[in-house]
Amino acid sequence: MIRAENLRHVYKSSSGDKVALDGLNFSIEAGEFVAIIGTNGSGKSTLAKHFNALLLPTDGKIFVDGLDTSDEKNLWHVRENVGMVFQNPDSEIVAAIVEDDVAFGLENLGIAPEKIRERVDLALDAVNMTDYKKFAPSKLSGGQKQRIAIAGVIAMRTKIIVFDEPTAMLDPQGRREILEMVKRLHAQGKTIIYITHFMEEAAAAQRIFLMEGGRIIKDGTPREIFTDAREMKRLGFNVPVATELAERLRRKGFKLPQKILTAAELADALNKLK
Ligand SMILES: Nc1ncnc2c1ncn2[C@@H]1O[C@H](COP(=O)(O)OP(=O)(O)OP(=O)(O)O)[C@@H](O)[C@H]1O
Ligand SMILES: [Mg+2]
Repeated sequence: MIRAENLRHVYKSSSGDKVALDGLNFSIEAGEFVAIIGTNGSGKSTLAKHFNALLLPTDGKIFVDGLDTSDEKNLWHVRENVGMVFQNPDSEIVAAIVEDDVAFGLENLGIAPEKIRERVDLALDAVNMTDYKKFAPSKLSGGQKQRIAIAGVIAMRTKIIVFDEPTAMLDPQGRREILEMVKRLHAQGKTIIYITHFMEEAAAAQRIFLMEGGRIIKDGTPREIFTDAREMKRLGFNVPVATELAERLRRKGFKLPQKILTAAELADALNKLK
């Protein structure tokens, strides 16, 4: 579904060249949920923008649905396949009324107006924002704006959705709601690429890419990535709270399994202790 071959990206500027992606090789299958974590400046957003040809490789290639993104005749099809949700909801809102904002992407596709209305209604329902259809987006909270942005992508019916830190500006409640929506979209068969600084969110994915200095230095399941809490700390990352707590309890002699990611798993393991 997505394949990168020696993907490189270099930003050129008067103060010198910056290698942001330094030869990435990976493939992502249809229907996968991949989280991308990495320290500031490790290249996550640069990679995100290669999935829908907002940026093109300086070297190497990326194929989306088998199509080379740097081939201009593929641009339309690539964009049709990949929806993007960014960090700052304010920068994503384009219309003065919620329903027009959700419809925006569709209007360029030549879809009949009644079909557009139907798709917008379904998308607003999917993000629990039907009641806000006629609202001005400026009156909404950050979390609600982000749900509108997601509705816009749902309405486009892209197979792949890329999220670049969608919860960075939200409170814990808003973050939970967005993550629930992302999980639901994955359950419906979408391919999800989810960039985050929150390890609890990354733990919800099937697979994690850990980026450092423009490279993917780890690629594994959340259990594989988070099991070694010390190694993660050395690299500058936290592990999920439940994983950390389990590790501390193990050091105190509690016989807990190695691979605990969630509070529910920890509670379960503690319950099984005598
Ligand atoms: N337009 C640009 N021009 C020059 N350098 C850039 C540009 N955009 C990003 N960079 C540099 O490229 C590197 C990767 O940036 P990128 O935004 O992809 O990182 P990131 O992992 O998304 O970081 P963050 O966690 O802060 O969002 C950084 O060193 C950054 O300073
Ligand atoms: Mg970024």
